[in-house]
Amino acid sequence: MTVFDKVVTARGSPNIAFIKYWGKRDEKLILPCNSSLSMTLSSDTLNTTTSVLISKKLEKDAFYIDGVLQDLQDPDVKERFEIVNKLRKMAKVKEKMLIVSKNNFPASSGMASSASGIATLIYVLNAALELKLTQRELSIIARQGSGSACRSVFGGIVVWKKGSNPDGTDSYAEQIFDENYWAELTDNIVIVTQEKKKVSSRAGMKQTVQTNPLYEMRYSSSETHIKEFVDAYKDKDFHRIADIIIADSNEMHALMLSTKPSIRYLNKASYAIMDAIEELNAKEGKNIAAYTFDAGANAHIITLASNREKVMNALKHLQDSKEIIEIKSSKIGGAPFELNETESLIDMQSMSPYN
Ligand code: DP6
Repeated sequence: MTVFDKVVTARGSPNIAFIKYWGKRDEKLILPCNSSLSMTLSSDTLNTTTSVLISKKLEKDAFYIDGVLQDLQDPDVKERFEIVNKLRKMAKVKEKMLIVSKNNFPASSGMASSASGIATLIYVLNAALELKLTQRELSIIARQGSGSACRSVFGGIVVWKKGSNPDGTDSYAEQIFDENYWAELTDNIVIVTQEKKKVSSRAGMKQTVQTNPLYEMRYSSSETHIKEFVDAYKDKDFHRIADIIIADSNEMHALMLSTKPSIRYLNKASYAIMDAIEELNAKEGKNIAAYTFDAGANAHIITLASNREKVMNALKHLQDSKEIIEIKSSKIGGAPFELNETESLIDMQSMSPYN
């Protein structure tokens, strides 16, 4: 087998954290202060597709995201591209690469495009370079691109262990339940803004760790939340998992709020959604939906497929008043996977991206 002159294509998806990662103990290696837990979304709804070609005929590296040729000298891009160089070195390959990546959702809409993009990139490079790395090894490498990306290497319910080794060898992701264990779980992504966030997660979490003494409570509360979540999930107890999901999201946003200067990602529409979900749960006499927010105003409403209709009705007034722009529903999903050549994004003849 040769790694040259063939296109390898793969698809992966974002994840939504139920127990949030917010703060690093090592910024270079991306080692978190606390463990986190997430659900991988189905690639049927949101996905990144990435094709790779390695060839002696290529004169330089080229990396396209959503049709745009990336400037490999730009510090942010360069940092991400380090992963590519690292894997290439591991495979003892010197040849240049053409990488073409496409998201089926807007990159800056707060739908975790970096997690999906990086996890898919690493997965496809492992296949293209025939490295045969394990998922755990892939998660360690993905982590160094963007922390939350390490969880998208697996499907289902995934924990990213914070670890304690200074070199990061014990800070990796692990699947706790596969996507079929409780396949009725859905994430309904409620888009209320398409604006790029003012403070990046990276900058925001650094600010929190540096200025917020309340931060330390996350060390223990995240561990407690993970343990409680896993117990409740085992029993498929939606009421209990919803309590934990809501509490953890509110805790992270309270931390952001009390950071100096204060970081606020939620807006009026976010609060209106929280009210609507709490009213729905109160009316039902038990939790049938949970809200969670990452570093942005868009909500993720977790509910069982059988209760989706009720959630949509509870949010209808906010759709009518145009506070909600769009809702995208996703099932719980699996790990990245390889696609056949009909799905390739690279034209072998011209060695360039398809239009
Ligand atoms: C709020 O993984 O994007 O979504 O490691 O600096 O790239 P970097 O940060 P990133 O942060 C995600 C933060 C979060 C919570 C989470 O996904 O756990």
